[in-house]
Amino acid sequence: MSDILTHIDHGIATITLNRVDKKNAFTAAMYADMARFMEQVAQEDGVRVLVFQGHPTVFSAGNDIADFLHHPPSTPEAPVFRFLEQISTFPKPVVAAVAGPAVGIGTTMLLHCDLVYAGDNAAFSMPFVNLGLCPEAACSLLASLRMGHARASEALLLGEPFLADAALEMGVVNRIVAPVEVNAYAQAQAARLAAKPLSSLIETKRLLKADLQPAIAARMAEEATVFARMLREPAAREAFAAFMEKRPPQFH
Ligand code: COA
Repeated sequence: MSDILTHIDHGIATITLNRVDKKNAFTAAMYADMARFMEQVAQEDGVRVLVFQGHPTVFSAGNDIADFLHHPPSTPEAPVFRFLEQISTFPKPVVAAVAGPAVGIGTTMLLHCDLVYAGDNAAFSMPFVNLGLCPEAACSLLASLRMGHARASEALLLGEPFLADAALEMGVVNRIVAPVEVNAYAQAQAARLAAKPLSSLIETKRLLKADLQPAIAARMAEEATVFARMLREPAAREAFAAFMEKRPPQFH
């Protein structure tokens, strides 16, 4: 069974994260599959909405740390960067259904989605600093804009998680529902979008994001350069080794 399931039905393209035994941690192969599918459905007139969904117990544990060690993203063509390019520029509405932990890119990708529905068990975190890394996916820009500098600092400097109710209050998610209902709720909202004219959806989304889009692209590129460098530095190597050995990291 594939780690990413895709299907298209009644104008809704859905990506289901399907690697629950590894908490839906993303491998390079998963990023490549998602980027390829998104490229395809962005062009398909029959597709009006894209949905990301996980499992009622987990959305995603973020980058697969072992895979990252073996396939560090070192060029702009790396699958993770191709996926980020797609999600940050996707022309049609993107809906996400999130339950359980959403770690790292599991949270930062949501900042590029248009409607996000969360299970009441959702826990969001961007613990890059705990891994000797820096923010990615333009979250150093988008987290501040959404959450304000004070709360973005807690999330990004302290690496503190925040729960569904805080995410709702900050405008990171649109609504909280029961974890087992979140995928169905997101699909129902996607069906409402899919009933609307595609040209209106595309133009409305473009206009909503027009001012921010160049800043997002520039920040993402800057973060990617720093991130790629920091991946090779001692702090990240120690954090990754500690994760693999199931022990706390020693940074000093
Ligand atoms: N990369 C690789 N493997 C991961 C992973 C990741 N990011 N997150 C979880 N896994 C693996 C674990 O190693 C474990 O594998 P094993 O069964 O072979 O030992 C399995 O998934 C289950 O994870 P576990 O930690 O036992 O589940 P949990 O329910 O106790 O905790 C999380 C879930 C998501 C809170 C926890 O796994 C976690 O914090 N993961 C790391 C998140 C992270 O730092 N991501 C990187 C962000 S850039």
